[in-house]
Amino acid sequence: MKPARILAIETSCDETAAAVVENGRLMLSSVVASQMDVHARYGGVYPEVASRQHVLSITPVIRQALAQAHVTLEEIDAVAVTCGPGLPGSLVVGLNAAKGLALGAGRPLVAVNHLEGHIYAAWVYEAGEIPPAEPQFPLLALLISGGHTELNLMTDHLTYRRLGATLDDAAGEAFDKVGRLLGLPYPGGPSIQKAAEEGDPQRFKFPRARLEGTWNFSFSGLKTAVLYEVQKFQKVDRPLPAADLAASFQAAVVDVLVEKTLKAAHTFGVKEILVAGGVSANRALRQAFRSQSDFPVHIPRLSLCTDNAAMIGAAGYFRFVRGQIADLSIDVQPTWTLS
Ligand code: KG4
Ligand code: ZN
Repeated sequence: MKPARILAIETSCDETAAAVVENGRLMLSSVVASQMDVHARYGGVYPEVASRQHVLSITPVIRQALAQAHVTLEEIDAVAVTCGPGLPGSLVVGLNAAKGLALGAGRPLVAVNHLEGHIYAAWVYEAGEIPPAEPQFPLLALLISGGHTELNLMTDHLTYRRLGATLDDAAGEAFDKVGRLLGLPYPGGPSIQKAAEEGDPQRFKFPRARLEGTWNFSFSGLKTAVLYEVQKFQKVDRPLPAADLAASFQAAVVDVLVEKTLKAAHTFGVKEILVAGGVSANRALRQAFRSQSDFPVHIPRLSLCTDNAAMIGAAGYFRFVRGQIADLSIDVQPTWTLS
């Protein structure tokens, strides 16, 4: 059978991305134009600026994705695009580009949820690589990004039951805010990981919100606990032990995420665990899952943990082969939830 090739576009936040993916798994190209340097000046994503940057980057990024995959638009079977959740002014740039290409090339448009994209990153591999084992259902998916932290039970493709979510900050948001408290560069996740490598994770006993009896998370108390420690040092004019604070904070986040996910996996009798979203790039977290889980754990390759379009191409394929085609009148869905 002829392979199905998806051209995918992602502009939900601050990365302009396009990719070509074959049969939901084989990545023929993946191009990401990061705006990180632009937003670092503001210490976070500036929505108006993000939208303008997407307008500048979208066409060259799509061209590059097609060129790197050595395919023309005529050789594409469908155009998949992130419709939400995300920043409205950012989403609309990708969606309009996708609509134009779908209409111009006479190909179907597939609307993809950004969070399911993160999950489907675990299906993707590159040419020349031995394909990693395909995740098996029922599957417990821990989704940890800058805007979301939730546990989803997947009984089949594209079938999500949200068991719980964060009651306050997302895991990535907590990393970013604590990074700022410690005076580390934006984004906080990678900066904290780096600082933590030199630090003692036992030095500060930060709280672990377990929220027993629910599958929810909470990180605001932990963030406040770090703030109080920082203030203690500032009051007496002593230098911040940033590495120890970062390591102790990271250990608290990792403990809660791993513990709760493993407990849910046992409770719901899943076959496997999948961890995805920007925070799944965290080395300590990856190691903790690999060493503590008695279930097979799928975590996307590092380059596909943070925002990219290959993951949208993978999820888009599974929608496309199920006939889930979007109408060209579809609008952005900034608050689209998985379930
Ligand atoms: O999935 P993502 O790229 O964008 C959203 O959909 O939000 O996630 C971005 C988040 C940021 O909060 C960033 O600090 C965090 O992922 N992140 C990390 C690491 N790399 C990125 N957090 C912890 N450790 C990392 N290595
Ligand atoms: Zn994301």
